[in-house]
Amino acid sequence: MIPAAQVANVTKLFRTGGQDYQVLRGVSLEIQPGEIVMLAGPSGCGKTTLLSILGGVLRATAGSVQIAGQETTTLSEPDLNDLRLWQIGFIFQSHNLLAGLTAEGNIAAVLRMRGWSKRDALNQARVLLAEVNLAGKEQHQPGQLSIGQQQRVAIARALAGQPGLLLADEPTASLDAHNGQVAMDLLRRLSRQAGSSILVVTHDARIHHYADRILHMEDGQILHQEGGTQ
Ligand SMILES: Nc1ncnc2c1ncn2[C@@H]1O[C@H](COP(=O)(O)OP(=O)(O)OP(=O)(O)O)[C@@H](O)[C@H]1O
Ligand SMILES: [Mg+2]
Repeated sequence: MIPAAQVANVTKLFRTGGQDYQVLRGVSLEIQPGEIVMLAGPSGCGKTTLLSILGGVLRATAGSVQIAGQETTTLSEPDLNDLRLWQIGFIFQSHNLLAGLTAEGNIAAVLRMRGWSKRDALNQARVLLAEVNLAGKEQHQPGQLSIGQQQRVAIARALAGQPGLLLADEPTASLDAHNGQVAMDLLRRLSRQAGSSILVVTHDARIHHYADRILHMEDGQILHQEGGTQ
């Protein structure tokens, strides 16, 4: 079976003020189709950087990144954009939504880019908003929603595309226990029904039981993992 994601010896150097800073120090990992993997580690250890490289938002300094068998480190920007549109869903830590669009508009936009009609896209957006307990908020703009509500719109939007690989950065950090569980149940359903693989960065021990494996990262390296057979 082709892994949903395969990372080998990835390093990332940032240069600020003329000084190099190595954020990732040789990270390797594999995520199988349908697997839910969590990534834990202290603030600043490189979790968001790793997710951004997997999602094609940042480029690795060295190493190999394959998404569904396709090497992405050598892709052109347009090909990388295509890969993101069709294969990858992203729930960011912050600044998730487009400010000029309503909640339903933010979700419908993803489907419109994939060729859905406006009417079908809006209908599907409303169904998904109801699933994250946001019925009645369809017409609200992000600034008119609480942070946790914005996070739930972002989760609904990520689900809309049924991506092969969903990358979620602290998706439950702004949610109460109930809504955190609702969100994780939806992600799990996506993985079971659509075979999507999910990588979740989290400090939230309340959701660790959803994981097939938990990877522990420190200072730019994955030190050990819990669960799984690797
Ligand atoms: N664009 C950048 N330029 C320079 N340094 C950066 C850049 N982005 C991130 N870093 C540095 O890389 C390190 C890792 O950042 P990253 O955002 O990946 O951490 P994180 O593990 O996600 O932390 P948190 O749990 O706080 O979100 C930090 O020390 C950060 O300052
Ligand atoms: Mg982070």
